[in-house]
Amino acid sequence: MGQQVRAAVFPVAGRGTRFLPATKASPKEMLPIVDKPLIQYAVEEAIAAGATKLVFVTGSSKRAIEDHFDVDSELEQALTDSGKDELLRSIQDIVPAGVSCIYIRQGQPLGLGHAVLCARPAVGDEPFFVHLADDLIAGTPGCLSQMAAEYKDHNGSVVAVETVPPENTSSYGIVAIDAADRGRITQIVEKPNPEDAPSNSAVVGRYLLAAEIFDKLETIGQGAGGEIQLTDGIAALLEESPVYAYAFSGTRYDCGSKLGYLQATVAYGLSHPDTGERFREHLKKTLSDD
Ligand code: UTP
Repeated sequence: MGQQVRAAVFPVAGRGTRFLPATKASPKEMLPIVDKPLIQYAVEEAIAAGATKLVFVTGSSKRAIEDHFDVDSELEQALTDSGKDELLRSIQDIVPAGVSCIYIRQGQPLGLGHAVLCARPAVGDEPFFVHLADDLIAGTPGCLSQMAAEYKDHNGSVVAVETVPPENTSSYGIVAIDAADRGRITQIVEKPNPEDAPSNSAVVGRYLLAAEIFDKLETIGQGAGGEIQLTDGIAALLEESPVYAYAFSGTRYDCGSKLGYLQATVAYGLSHPDTGERFREHLKKTLSDD
């Protein structure tokens, strides 16, 4: 049986170039979907899956993330004084008791694999989650909870995958799977052209990794785009220990792209109790006026 996963790593040190100029001075993980930043959805999903140690790998201009998960006594006092109890609760409950936040700097954005390696001193010798906050997944239970349950059955690393149109393989890590061996991954390739892709099963931003990945990330060196790629670390890992593909249930929004972000905003806006009904009316009217 796989052990309880306690650490969740949030790499938030990327440049976010696809969302410039919005991400020039503020991280893309702070972009809000209705009333919560992406990174808060990420943290809530990890806590629901049992994580108690939240490790943020941050870069320059990422102070806003630390501030978001810190106590703001002045704001709390102001909301108390004005009797805004519901808003007060909404900022007090962001990080529940018993959950700790650790911040580690990635000096230079040398790649996702390098960002994950930076978390090693905080994670230690245990399995851990990696959560990319710009991949927002609406699902119940959350994607990480689904993966933790899968891990208990498989006792190997687990990577979330989704089927993508064959022409889009060059945007993702792509895996070959042995269906007869419970979805064990036999090959993983970073951003292959469609003609070279082993399938159209694409890795998305949720991983449950054995600590052995750190040794692999230490030694793989630069890969595609001159970056230290998590995909290459996983390719080395699966030579030695099982890594399974998990087709999660839920809807994924690529909030690192403008279109995906807008799609998420519409979906969450429609299902939000404060905005849903009026937003639906507004959208209907806007579309019928077109
Ligand atoms: P992306 O590939 O989305 O890159 O990174 P990016 O820089 O964030 O965004 P674009 O493509 O320039 O618009 C995937 C994830 O890995 C993190 C990012 O923060 C994101 O969550 N990352 C990437 C790091 O933390 N460090 C890196 O060196 C690279």
